[in-house]
Amino acid sequence: MEAKRDRSAWLKGPAFQCEVKPPTRARPWKLILLGAPGVGKGTQAGLLSDRLGACHLSTGDIFRTAKGLQECDRSPAMSAALEYMKRGDLVPDTTVLEMVRERVGCLRCGGGFLLDGFPRTLAQAEALQDLMETQQIVLDAVLSYELPLEELISRLSGRRTCEQCKAVYHVTGRPSKRESVCDQCGGKLFQREDDRPESVRVRMEAYEKSTAPLTDFYKRLGLLVTISAQAPANGVFERTMTALQAREKHVGRPDSGKARLRRRTADATKH
Ligand code: AP5
Repeated sequence: MEAKRDRSAWLKGPAFQCEVKPPTRARPWKLILLGAPGVGKGTQAGLLSDRLGACHLSTGDIFRTAKGLQECDRSPAMSAALEYMKRGDLVPDTTVLEMVRERVGCLRCGGGFLLDGFPRTLAQAEALQDLMETQQIVLDAVLSYELPLEELISRLSGRRTCEQCKAVYHVTGRPSKRESVCDQCGGKLFQREDDRPESVRVRMEAYEKSTAPLTDFYKRLGLLVTISAQAPANGVFERTMTALQAREKHVGRPDSGKARLRRRTADATKH
């Protein structure tokens, strides 16, 4: 079994190197996961990472890692970001974009990436497009997970997260083998501060206002793949793999012959 990735370069910043690097792949997967808080993006990113080899890159995990630092070791912008997060509000675009830009090496990593929680606003999505163009990074697809509100609330209220490796559990739906202990690394499980009902309400409003419109943005780019998240985690994972395989068959992947042909045809029809 492959050693668990530490993702230090993403979680702690470019001054740190990942101890366990993903093997370089000929055609690494480059995906974005979209969806409301609690829909299961982090859970699916973990399963997809195991299957596809790409790194799970969550902006929320960067903030939670910074939360574990002494206040004097955090930048003022990061301390302010943690206050936004605690309330359930989105962190300002400038802070998030600076954080992602300084970690651009993770987007170029030979194992690929699964972006979770970024982008979250139109400004972030446009900035990411610019960044990827300058870095010549081409996305495979944007996975958009959907679930009714009452199910989202129930998933959030029972969630437990490992403070070390960030693995995600649910007290009834996906319990750890030993209570409050992570199956993967033995770390302690905790309940996130922003899973309290008053923060959840703010997060849902922020999602509706700022993040939901991103589905139209990626639909226009021909990248959107919509998946119902109403099934156990493994069932949603199988749906995701089926959707990716169908897309690969019909559309191709950025470096495949089919995708090159599609691009050439699109270019030719422009002139
Ligand atoms: P972030 O960490 O990104 O949180 P989120 O988007 O609100 O998403 P969650 O992590 O809450 O849910 P998830 O979809 O990953 O679900 P999970 O797999 O854990 O962001 C937190 C905060 O950081 C934001 O509010 C904001 O303040 C800030 N932030 C981060 N990025 C930002 C950005 N780009 N711009 C501005 N601010 C930013 O699953 C949830 C639970 O359900 C778990 O218990 C799990 O076990 C269970 N579960 C999962 N799948 C299933 C299933 N299929 N069936 C049953 N249970 C399931």
